[in-house]
Amino acid sequence: MNDPTVTLRARLREATQPAHLRLEAGLRLLEEPLNEARVLRLLARFHGFHAAWEPALRGVIPAHLLKARLKLPLLERDLRILGAADDFLRGLPACLEAASFCRSEASAAGSLYVLEGSTLGGKVINRLLSGAPWYPARGLAYWDPYGADTGKRWKETLGYLESLPPGWSDEVIASACATFDLLHSWLLAQPRQPERPLPEPLLPECLVSESLMPELPTSGSLLQDGHR
Ligand code: HEM
Repeated sequence: MNDPTVTLRARLREATQPAHLRLEAGLRLLEEPLNEARVLRLLARFHGFHAAWEPALRGVIPAHLLKARLKLPLLERDLRILGAADDFLRGLPACLEAASFCRSEASAAGSLYVLEGSTLGGKVINRLLSGAPWYPARGLAYWDPYGADTGKRWKETLGYLESLPPGWSDEVIASACATFDLLHSWLLAQPRQPERPLPEPLLPECLVSESLMPELPTSGSLLQDGHR
């Protein structure tokens, strides 16, 4: 039986720690060089996750909480700043499986824990990126969406999680673990041969050169590939 004195957050943190470490290591965001093409590709993959997940959260997570946490517009803004045009954004694949986390409030809450928690590590990532020569003057918002309010927003999210019925905890935790797993496979998906590559003029400048970070998914796979 679950110990009622252990908070849901403590259980979430413990249960997801190995998956957090695995994702952190897989993304290699703290390793140099973190060039523009690599960041653009990763933000495009996060876009695919949020594009399926955020619309499915509506009506499941309380509206006031959700409204302040929608990050799809920030991702689109960041991608445009990095040179993505409308055609590129329209062609990005969605991670359809992400919507399945929203089948119940308990499950949605577990996935919310993961994506909101990423704003804590995101601050570290953004600080590192901001020293890069290509870093846009207008900044990148996805990894630091709340600025000075990061701690406040995180406390609100934790308050919401702790307000859920104790009987939901196992489902919340299982969903948080599954969210990390899906993010791992989606964000680190291997390159596939594109059937119909986007013509070069439609690609953001930094993705045109195939010599950039060849071990990451190619620009074509970003546009053509689905999760399955
Ligand atoms: C290089 C990449 C990353 C680094 C360096 C990093 C680092 C961190 C740091 C420093 C914290 C704060 C820990 C604390 O305050 O005690 C944190 C928390 C967290 N991060 Fe990451 N992170 C990274 C990537 C991610 C990603 C991609 C996700 C998920 C999308 C994620 C999910 C979380 C979660 C859920 C928490 C909250 C853990 C808790 O309950 O305290 N992180 N991370």
